[in-house]
Amino acid sequence: MPRIYDFIEPAVLRHLLCQYSKTLNTAVLLFDERRNFLLSFPEDVSGQGVVIRPLYIRGSLVGHAAIPAPEERYLDYIVENLSIILERGYEIESLSSEVVRNYEEFAILWRLSARLGSVLDVEKACTAVADEIMNVCPSKAVSVLLADNISTVASFSHFQEPQSRAHSALTAQILSSVASVGEYAGQAAQLKLRADRGLVGRAFDKKETLTVCDVRDDKRFEGFPYPVTCLLIAPLIVEDSPIGAIVVSDKLSGEEFYSTDIKIISSIASEGAISVRKASFFSEIRTMLFGVAEAFSLAIEAKDPCTYGHSRRVAELSVKIARCMGIADDVIDWIRLAALLHDIGKIGTPEDILHKGEKLDPDEMTRVREHPLIGAKVIEPIKKLSEVAKWITCHHEKYDGSGYPMGISGDTIPLPSRIISIADIFDALTSDRPYKKSLTREDAVEVMREFVGEYFAPDLFVYFEKAIHTQQ
Ligand SMILES: [Fe+2]
Repeated sequence: MPRIYDFIEPAVLRHLLCQYSKTLNTAVLLFDERRNFLLSFPEDVSGQGVVIRPLYIRGSLVGHAAIPAPEERYLDYIVENLSIILERGYEIESLSSEVVRNYEEFAILWRLSARLGSVLDVEKACTAVADEIMNVCPSKAVSVLLADNISTVASFSHFQEPQSRAHSALTAQILSSVASVGEYAGQAAQLKLRADRGLVGRAFDKKETLTVCDVRDDKRFEGFPYPVTCLLIAPLIVEDSPIGAIVVSDKLSGEEFYSTDIKIISSIASEGAISVRKASFFSEIRTMLFGVAEAFSLAIEAKDPCTYGHSRRVAELSVKIARCMGIADDVIDWIRLAALLHDIGKIGTPEDILHKGEKLDPDEMTRVREHPLIGAKVIEPIKKLSEVAKWITCHHEKYDGSGYPMGISGDTIPLPSRIISIADIFDALTSDRPYKKSLTREDAVEVMREFVGEYFAPDLFVYFEKAIHTQQ
C-alpha cells in the first residue's frame, strides 16, 4: 500500500502545511492511512477538536488531512490541493524509477554487446549470454540451448515453403545445452529437449517468453535432470525464426520472476541471438573454407598419389608448432589454410616431372621451383588471402638464404612460411617416395638437426621438436 512519504519528502510536507496554516490562519494536521498522527502546523495543536478527510492517489488511500472543527470550510480546498501535489509526486517517482530501470537495462545490454562484439565462437557467445543473465538475475541455473539445425534455420527459412518450414520445425529440431552456469550448471549442461513439446518447446514454437511459478502444477513440464520449481524460458530469435532458448530456473532470492526480469532477460535474449547466429555463421564459413582448401590440396595431390595426404599432414604439424609458439588462434587458422594450400602451385607442374622416380635435370628442377610463385598467383585474386599468398610464395625459402624463389633469409622470411617449411620437410622425410624410403620420425629429426642454422632457425627447431611430441 502506498504511503504519503513514498511520494513527497517530510520537509516539503511540513513546508506545505506551514503555507496552508499561514494563508488560512488555521492549524493543519496530517495523518497516515491508518489515522496515525504524522505532523501538524503549528506543532502544538492539542486540545482542539478536528474534522478529518481521507487523501487518495489514483484510488488508493494514502493518508488523512485534518483541521480544527470551526475552520472546516477550508478542508476541501486543502485536501484537493494536497491530492494534486501528491499525485505529481507519485508521477515523478514513477518516471524516475522507469528512467533508472531503463538506464540499468541499457547499461547491461551495452556491456553484453561490447563483450559479444568480437566473439566469433558459438560456445563463447552462449557463455557470455548465460553469465550476463546470471549477473542480472541470480538463479540456480541458466542454460542456453540451441537448435541442432541452427545453421539452416535462419539462412534458408525464407526460401522454404510454409508447409516445409512447419515440417522441418516438427521433425528434426532438438534443443541442446551449449552453455550453462549456476549451482546446477553440470546437470543443466545435459539438457537435450525436443523443440515441439514441453514448456521449452512451447516458448520456442510460439517465440514468446514464458514463466511458470511452479512447474509441478504444469503438465507441459518435460522434466529436467535437476530440481526446478520456478522457470523462465526466453526464445532466441533471428529474423523471426527461433534458433534456441534460454532457460532460467529458480531465483536465488526465492521470489518468482517479475515483469522486470522478463523484460531484461528477453532483451538479453534478443541481443544474444544475433551474436550466436553471427558466430555460428562464421563457424560454417570457416568449416567450408577449410573444406574447400583441403579438397583443392587433395585434387593437386591426386596428380601424384605418392604425396596423397601430404598437405593435410603439413597443416596439422604447422598448427601444432604454431600452438607451441603461443601464436593467436585466429592467426593459426590462416597458417593452417596456407599449409593446406602450400603446394597448390603444382597444378602448373607437368605430371611427368612430378612422377619422375629419379633425379630431375636442371630444366625440370626449374619447373618444380616455379610452384611457390604459381601457387601465390592462384591465391592472389582472393583479396582476403593476400597474406596467405605471400606465405605460400616463401615456403621453400631457407634460414641461410639458400632457398627459393627469392633467396631471402632469417626473419625476412615470414614466420608462417618458416613454420610450414619445417613441417613440409619433416613430412617429406617421413613419407615414402619413388626414389627413397621413408625415415622414422626420430631419424628424420636427427637428419634435420644437422641443418639447424642453415635451413631452420635454432629457436624454431626447438618449437618443432616440442610439437612433434605433442599429441594434440
Ligand atoms: Fe612445396
